[in-house]
Amino acid sequence: MSARKILVTSALPYANGPIHLGHLVEYIQTDIWVRFQKQRGNLCYYVCADDTHGTPIMLRADREGITPEQLIAQVGKEHLADFTEFSVAFDNYHSTHSEENKALSSLIYERLRDAGHISSRSITQAFDPVKNMFLSDRFIKGECPKCGALDQYGDGCEVCGATYSPTELKNAVSAISGAKPIDKDSVHYFFDLANFSEMLNEWTHAGHLQPEVSNKLAEWLDGGLQQWDISRDAPYFGFEIPDAPGKYFYVWLDAPIGYMASFKNLCDKQGLDFNEFWGKHSDAELYHFIGKDIIYFHALFWPAMLNGAHFRTPSAIFAHGFLTVNGEKMSKSRGTFIKARTYLDHLNPEYLRYYFAAKLSAGVDDIDLNFDDFSQRVNSDLVGKVVNIASRCSGFIAKRFDNKLSEHCSEQALFHEFVVANVHIAELYEAREFGKAMREIMALADKANQYIDEKKPWLIAKEEGKEQELHEVCTMGLNLFRLLAVYLKPVLPVLAGNAESFLNIGAQAWPVHSKPLLNHAINVFTPLMTRVEADKIAAIVEASKEHLEKTAEPVKAKKCEPIAPTIEFDDFAKLDLRIARIIKADHVEGADKLLQLTVDIGDETRNIFAGIKSAYSPEDLEGKLTLVIANLAPRKMRFGLSEGMVLAAGPGGKDIWVLSPDEGAEPGMRVK
Ligand code: 2FM
Ligand code: ZN
Repeated sequence: MSARKILVTSALPYANGPIHLGHLVEYIQTDIWVRFQKQRGNLCYYVCADDTHGTPIMLRADREGITPEQLIAQVGKEHLADFTEFSVAFDNYHSTHSEENKALSSLIYERLRDAGHISSRSITQAFDPVKNMFLSDRFIKGECPKCGALDQYGDGCEVCGATYSPTELKNAVSAISGAKPIDKDSVHYFFDLANFSEMLNEWTHAGHLQPEVSNKLAEWLDGGLQQWDISRDAPYFGFEIPDAPGKYFYVWLDAPIGYMASFKNLCDKQGLDFNEFWGKHSDAELYHFIGKDIIYFHALFWPAMLNGAHFRTPSAIFAHGFLTVNGEKMSKSRGTFIKARTYLDHLNPEYLRYYFAAKLSAGVDDIDLNFDDFSQRVNSDLVGKVVNIASRCSGFIAKRFDNKLSEHCSEQALFHEFVVANVHIAELYEAREFGKAMREIMALADKANQYIDEKKPWLIAKEEGKEQELHEVCTMGLNLFRLLAVYLKPVLPVLAGNAESFLNIGAQAWPVHSKPLLNHAINVFTPLMTRVEADKIAAIVEASKEHLEKTAEPVKAKKCEPIAPTIEFDDFAKLDLRIARIIKADHVEGADKLLQLTVDIGDETRNIFAGIKSAYSPEDLEGKLTLVIANLAPRKMRFGLSEGMVLAAGPGGKDIWVLSPDEGAEPGMRVK
């Protein structure tokens, strides 16, 4: 079969933050798949870039007193360094703020415009009169119109779950300047997605998407396609729209075009033919690996844009789920929001590559990084099973046979079984069923260890006249190890490379017709992987907690108006303020700020939701005393009924104080 031509991308990471373990699920997944394709002899290119445009990047550069160009250059270097150390091997890593991307974005826009797919009209939006800029929903904060919670964003309330438009927020302020926003009109440009309804209905059911993704898209398509606003007003860090001075392409317009731009940059460097991969009649395969949160952009807008601008559409889009850590959403306060760099400071990146591979499938389910399971799997599978085979056999080959493998191997059935397994393992890699592939490989590793256990080279070594048998058993052991390393190579390129050096062989292709290495000199064995140490994991969690304390909240709304009217003493006297003991504290799934408390108020226990998650972990609270308002009418919240309120003081973030001293106080005591 002739080699396939394949172009692969991962989603472009935003240039306004560091790479974290959540990102790495996708880059490691893609890299494994690409390495597998290359090992199979296919022509495969893997390109990516930093996603550099938009308001947050502009504002961050402003805060840091540098230009956006300086900021993205610095972040781009950090991102690439992180990827490189995790062995994520792009053929090209570029930037969306590039000449290639500007030219391609303009070309695609002009082709869409000329074909009648762009329209413009005036819309009204919130505007910051101090900063002189329009404010998207995420830059407006105020009080929830339903429950009155403070500091809620313009698109929905985290406390009661209400959704609303920013104009409904009470006492709304710009999260950038603290000023009260005004309404202002401006002309925007729209991509008429509805013109592509038929094309998308067909495309989304033509095998380019995972079944669960097609089903989700069918719901969106049935609901009718809206026009997509592709322009933003100055000031905006991005590309100016060619025929609309002062208007810029919205970051999501030029981001996917960044895939093409990065490849164009590679073509120019290596003399490749861009059209062979992106032309309307390309026979190359094109795959985008993405997270499930950005399906809409990739499975609707992107194919429509490409189709409307006369480029080929993707062969497939592979969406994956999110990463949870120890069963919960990654959390800065718990130290589970772990940056790639923090991990690299303490642990071998190949541990994580293997662990993610062992958990990944072709579906969109979330995957969980459980630290105990992580250590156990790496230690037992890689160190205990795979590397152990080499260390069990190499000593005899070194000491007794001058590091040379035997000339013959009488028993080759097991070796043959290992080679035949290549077919199924390849199918699993191809289908992105990496977890299943790892299980197949580990089942082979078990067989190799069983072989050594049965042959007992440590006993044969003591018997006279069994030199040849010892030599052959250890030679076979190392040959089985070689195949395991080859199968693991897409996942563990460093370990496999070190195994190749130890075995004194070149870079191994996929072993379709492999023969045992015989009569071959090998090198001195050095340990190929050591066990995960529990204290390193603890150090990572600790370092991730520290990070939060050092990073000040960048955008904070200023409170410019009084938030409550003056009350009389009689009003105050109505409050039943009581000391309460926190019996139980839990995280609330889906809430970023809340903890759920079960408190003993003396004569009964109550369930209370408190917005104190930024300052406390549940374990800090259990058993402690706090002060509650016991006669507040129960409130129905999105997560359940809240039967009281915990009193807190402090500016917010990590500094919220809710605990009461223990001496002389007990649950139920009234405070006045
Ligand atoms: O969601 C994100 O992180 C985006 N920066 C992904 C962009 S992917 C592509 F379209 F550029
Ligand atoms: Zn609310």
